[in-house]
Amino acid sequence: MSYLHNAGVPFDVYKGEQPLTPTQLIESSQVYDALFIAASDKLDRHFFESCRHLKAIALMSVGFDHVDLAAATEQGIPVSNTPDVLNKATSDIAFLLMLSVSRDAFNRHKSIEDGDWKGFGSNRNLGIELYGKTLGVFGLGRIGIEMALKAKSAYQMKIIYHNRKPNLEAEELVDAHYVSFEELLSQSDVISVHANLTDQTKETFNATAFEKMKSSSIFINTARGGIHNEQDLIQALQDQTIWGAGLDVTNPEPMASDSPLLRMPHVCVLPHLGSATVETRNAMATLAAKNLVAALNGEQMPQVINKEVYR
Ligand code: 8YV
Repeated sequence: MSYLHNAGVPFDVYKGEQPLTPTQLIESSQVYDALFIAASDKLDRHFFESCRHLKAIALMSVGFDHVDLAAATEQGIPVSNTPDVLNKATSDIAFLLMLSVSRDAFNRHKSIEDGDWKGFGSNRNLGIELYGKTLGVFGLGRIGIEMALKAKSAYQMKIIYHNRKPNLEAEELVDAHYVSFEELLSQSDVISVHANLTDQTKETFNATAFEKMKSSSIFINTARGGIHNEQDLIQALQDQTIWGAGLDVTNPEPMASDSPLLRMPHVCVLPHLGSATVETRNAMATLAAKNLVAALNGEQMPQVINKEVYR
């Protein structure tokens, strides 16, 4: 807000507890030149066709699966996101979940609360070590690279990955090896998801995929809940097809408080807080504000996603 203020941009802030409905969002957008979207409000074709007057939209998120970019481009509206500044915070959560699941930390905490700490037992509370194991990264991009670097330096993990196409720069940076999706499933001890949610990645991790994973493996998702099928994940954990799961994103969100995942061994769930540190959220907000000010000054938004809009 101080960035916008210093740039001389007048603005209003929506302070309601509940997200605006699609109709409210369209109606309230009519009096503004640009929008700063700090949540994950769905901006679909109907929204863009109803808000043709907008000069720009600055998202305060790296993900843009909630935005119909083609529709934005058709209306000549540039949309920007906030990449890079959240790589460290989000990969911290992937790493935290990997370690927490491997030692079942959240459940062990609950067991103390439940009065179940009865004393020492040499076979009690056993976890899985991560040293020297294989990390499979699904989507080796900016956040995946940070996760791989952490896993390598902490546990000398071997890094394999699967992307739409090999990322040679990233391979060199983290000594990662490109594998097919099938190989990723069968060779990984931990799979960490860092891909965008698209029509191609939607529910990629389903019953068929879990079947091909090691029974001792851990599934981590800090990207988008839509990349896994949550019922299939529950089944795979119940059947011990895989060993455990750590989720910062769920399908749907918010997760229902009676989800079986919250009461399963070797499962740790967080409420989509990957980028939620004071430092990272400030950096995201500032970046989004810079994009907005650039657009209002008639310049190209530095982090524009639909670049073709400027052609
Ligand atoms: C956001 C995220 O906090 O940037 C993203 O894509 O998932 C989070 O950092 C969330 O999308 C709300 O805007």
